[in-house]
Amino acid sequence: PPLAGMLNTFDFESVAREVMEPQAWGYYSSGGDDEITLRDNHMAFQRITMRPRILVNVSEIDMTTSFLGVSSSLPLYFTATALAKLAHADGEVAIVRAAKKAGVPYMLPTLSSYTLDEMLEARQPGQELFSQLYVNPERSRTQEYVEKLEKNGVRALFITVDAPQLGRREKDMRNKFTQQGSDVQGDDEDEGEVDRSQGATRAISSYIDPALNWADVPWFKTITKMKILLKGIQCGEDAVQAYKAGVNGMVLSNHGGRQLDTCRSGIEVLPEVMQALKDADYDPTDFTVFIDGGIRRGADIFKAVALGAAAVGVGRPVLYSLASYGEKGIVRMVHMLQDELQMVMRLSGTPNVASITPNHVITRNLADH
Ligand code: FNR
Repeated sequence: PPLAGMLNTFDFESVAREVMEPQAWGYYSSGGDDEITLRDNHMAFQRITMRPRILVNVSEIDMTTSFLGVSSSLPLYFTATALAKLAHADGEVAIVRAAKKAGVPYMLPTLSSYTLDEMLEARQPGQELFSQLYVNPERSRTQEYVEKLEKNGVRALFITVDAPQLGRREKDMRNKFTQQGSDVQGDDEDEGEVDRSQGATRAISSYIDPALNWADVPWFKTITKMKILLKGIQCGEDAVQAYKAGVNGMVLSNHGGRQLDTCRSGIEVLPEVMQALKDADYDPTDFTVFIDGGIRRGADIFKAVALGAAAVGVGRPVLYSLASYGEKGIVRMVHMLQDELQMVMRLSGTPNVASITPNHVITRNLADH
């Protein structure tokens, strides 16, 4: 179907399912175990109802915002997802370009299919990037990688903390993984040791250090001046500990439902975390909260912002729009979310991002702690 026929993010998913190689589809679409969390990530947004205000002048809607010192055309960024070449030959390079065109930041993945240099080369003048970090058991490698990111002006480092072991993703495991022209970068010397017999997931798990713990956090602050955030927080206690450890923020995330099954979606964790941070007297100018997982509609972005998120990360919608229409598919996907968010803001009586408050949504059907 023509790109113009795509009406929402789910349409891209349907096309991607048709056009992608079965093993690539298996890797991208799968979640952990019974995929309860994977399914609930989007469903959780539907448990939040809207509480619009009327008779506000909404002739002009301003969706622009900034987070971590980076401006964005809406409260959204492309989150890190490994191995984008499985979607499209242009892989992460196309995502970098689309991010610039859509006016949103992109979080480069550690386990990219293009090299870091290739991704950085695709960057346009003035374009801001974040980076996701998997911490290698060999810390000198991690340090080298982080130093290179900083030297190249990457704004923030998101350390993934929800994957000391990669989840069991059975759809992926059933597809014996052959890399199809993709390379797990940054791990070249280990090529021979990586077990590719049980799907992409097993192939990359040997890269990640399960010993990573709170005592390591100060070390990151000594090796970089980039902002440091933790990606994959799931409760108020850890949020407060992250704040007290002096990092600059976090992502409430369950890794797109690919790790611990039956845990809560980011949106469901958000009220607990905002309350815990408030109780700990945190300084919001110094600490930024994001969520990701299941963002598929403009209304989802609105709800996240209403409950305290500075922005949301989108993962699969980027991969699916890339797989189906390449770079321009991604740009179109963002424009659709933007159109939806604009309408929701207008109908809610919120002309700009700052005017969206907790009073604009009702959360009583969310699971309470
Ligand atoms: C991911 N995600 C992820 N996260 C991370 O920290 N490092 C990684 O290498 C990857 N790789 C990855 C691959 C694929 C195929 C997916 C779908 C996801 C998780 C990602 O950053 C994010 O948390 C979720 O994708 C958000 O959920 P949605 O938007 O996919 O529903």
